[in-house]
Amino acid sequence: MDFSRRAMLGAMGGLVAGGALASLSGNSMAAPAMSEGKNGHFAQMGGEFSWEPKKLVAAECAPVAYDGYWYKGFGCGYGVFYSIVGTMAEKYGAPYNTFPFSMMEMFKGGVADWGTVCGALAGAAAAFFCFFPRKQANPMVSELFRWYEKTAFPVYNPGDAAQGVKGELPTSVSRSVLCHVSVSTWCHKTGKAANSKERSERCGRITADVSIKAIEILNAKIDAGKEWKGALAKQESVAGCTSCHGKGQASDMQKGNMDCTPCHSGSSAVADKFHNHP
Ligand code: HEC
Ligand code: HEC
Repeated sequence: MDFSRRAMLGAMGGLVAGGALASLSGNSMAAPAMSEGKNGHFAQMGGEFSWEPKKLVAAECAPVAYDGYWYKGFGCGYGVFYSIVGTMAEKYGAPYNTFPFSMMEMFKGGVADWGTVCGALAGAAAAFFCFFPRKQANPMVSELFRWYEKTAFPVYNPGDAAQGVKGELPTSVSRSVLCHVSVSTWCHKTGKAANSKERSERCGRITADVSIKAIEILNAKIDAGKEWKGALAKQESVAGCTSCHGKGQASDMQKGNMDCTPCHSGSSAVADKFHNHP
């Protein structure tokens, strides 16, 4: 018998009995039913967005996020995601404990060391999307990302539990959700190397900071339900520039909600470095 995923989905088709699924996967526990999907594809265990979000205590999860960052070097995305969904798994078991948490290592260094989106933010966004579809999750992400752009990091201090360096660390506001911009502006301001222990410690602490904020947002969302709205307004530059470069406007050619300032203000950092540069 062909046990490939495709064949399994085909074999199950409209048949969604949990018992049948459990025996196919060799799992003796009754598995939740598979949703139907469409044209033999896109079926999902338990149905889409079927996991129930649980309220968490941010102060309990923050040290877990920080420890998760250091655990096997899995990093920021793993730390934040585990502090949320992993904590639900520790407290409530299934289905949260079925998540392959180690895949979240992918977000380390802004996705496999590419310095794109800050992995801590990506881990939190991934956690939101475990529970809510985009209409509800996007505003949660916007609230978190806007807060991140404006905050002087790091805030969290693990005290004697510090695994990189102990004591206070210098802070900076990145104005950007990108790992590259966040790390490099901090390094430029503080004189610390991007590959230093201090920088690792900084990102470990930011992992806890993002976990705390993400849980605050998640808890508020659970309380308010569909009515939940974020408190932070669009950044001034985004509101201003998209009045012409936004959807349906005169020059509709920009995509995204990132603060435009770090990249389009002509600062010395984004001026030409390919000529007359040391
Ligand atoms: C009043 C309308 C308006 C506003 C506000 C505006 N732009 Fe533009 N922008 C334009 C138009 C029109 C063009 C030319 C479009 C074309 O070439 O198709 C342009 C072009 C650009 C370009 C292309 C390169 C260039 O300079 O021609 C960039 C980048 C740009 N704008 C960024 C921004 C940013 C960042 C902001 C906010 C600080 C902003 N714009 C605000 C109308 C606007
Ligand atoms: C992380 C840096 C970054 C941010 C943030 C950013 N941009 Fe850009 N943007 C770029 C880069 C890089 C290009 C491509 C420039 C090029 O090809 O020379 C670009 C291209 C554009 C263009 C097309 C014109 C061109 O010269 O190619 C427009 C318009 C634009 N951005 C507007 C905006 C607006 C409005 C915002 C804020 C809502 C924004 N950008 C945020 C980096 C950024």
